[in-house]
Amino acid sequence: MRISRKMEHVHHALKLGQSGRQGLSDIKLVHNCLPEASTDTIALTTRIGDLTMSSPIFINAMTGGAEETETINRSLATVAREKKLAMAVGSQMSAIKNKEVVSSYQVVRQVNPNGIIIANLGSEALPDQAKRAVDMIEANALQIHLNVMQELIMPEGDRSFTGMLKRIETIVQQVSVPVIVKEVGFGIMRENARQLSEIGVHILDVGGTGGTNFAAIENARRQAPLDWLNDWGCTTSVALLEALSIYPRGSIIASGGITNALEAIKALTLGASGVGMAGAFLKVIQSEGIDALMGFIDELHEGLILIMTALGVRSVDQLWQRPVVISGETAAWCTTRGID
Ligand code: FNR
Repeated sequence: MRISRKMEHVHHALKLGQSGRQGLSDIKLVHNCLPEASTDTIALTTRIGDLTMSSPIFINAMTGGAEETETINRSLATVAREKKLAMAVGSQMSAIKNKEVVSSYQVVRQVNPNGIIIANLGSEALPDQAKRAVDMIEANALQIHLNVMQELIMPEGDRSFTGMLKRIETIVQQVSVPVIVKEVGFGIMRENARQLSEIGVHILDVGGTGGTNFAAIENARRQAPLDWLNDWGCTTSVALLEALSIYPRGSIIASGGITNALEAIKALTLGASGVGMAGAFLKVIQSEGIDALMGFIDELHEGLILIMTALGVRSVDQLWQRPVVISGETAAWCTTRGID
């Protein structure tokens, strides 16, 4: 049998890896040699819109929709439960259209009955489908992903993108859980952030370049690759600053190429309230298994606590008060675009 598209995405994501050019090397934290802090007073809890999470780090949307992906989702959900991380599932449209694959998503709720689980659909979804996706996994929130460039490069992808904003607006009005609009790795810019804010979207996940690259993944699936599109989009650092020029603190998630505690802290210090990680978690769970991923998450949390202690902050929102120095391409971008 032909390998499913969902598994092709997993294989290509692992094979291509993450470039690490998410722009966070342009962000320098300002050292504090008199921090008045100790490791046992640091709280990692965070609030993003109406969601309260025990860690700013969460497992971002990846998979579901094919038999093999049920195993991956079961493993990720086990880690999410043990480490008390929120977790998003991959796009549920396949399960809306085909009941046979529903279990590959529902496994996440079965394994983790009390955790924060986030449903996921694309912007082609109708309000009724959004409600069904939320109900399917008793989700605490719903992600709507934006992935126009991925669809256009995907041989079998969508070619028409009209009415996206209107459909998202209706979904926001009709579903009973917070809606997070996210990019899959090309970034959300200020103009679009303003449009999304105006239709009542309270949480954005800026999903910039520098991590899993869906232009490269779809090109790897094409007979005639459009490799000249592999650098499309804006870095996570730029997307974060663009979105924060429209949205208040407490409403922005950083994702795209975040792989360690220092990168996560830089994103949080810039003003994010949460940090989504996908490719880095997929790599560990697929190559080394559940225990290794749990160890990696412990390392991430220990790293966050270490850096927060060094900076003299006790909570994520106190990180927002810390100064940062922005240089390189991120600074040049902000100057050109008039972003403070
Ligand atoms: C994804 N991502 C994703 N996002 C989404 O909203 N719906 C989806 O179905 C998927 N599917 C998916 C499959 C695989 C294998 C990967 C690795 C990723 C995108 C993901 O949530 C995230 O936005 C990007 O991967 C960028 O973050 P990282 O991977 O650089 O941390």
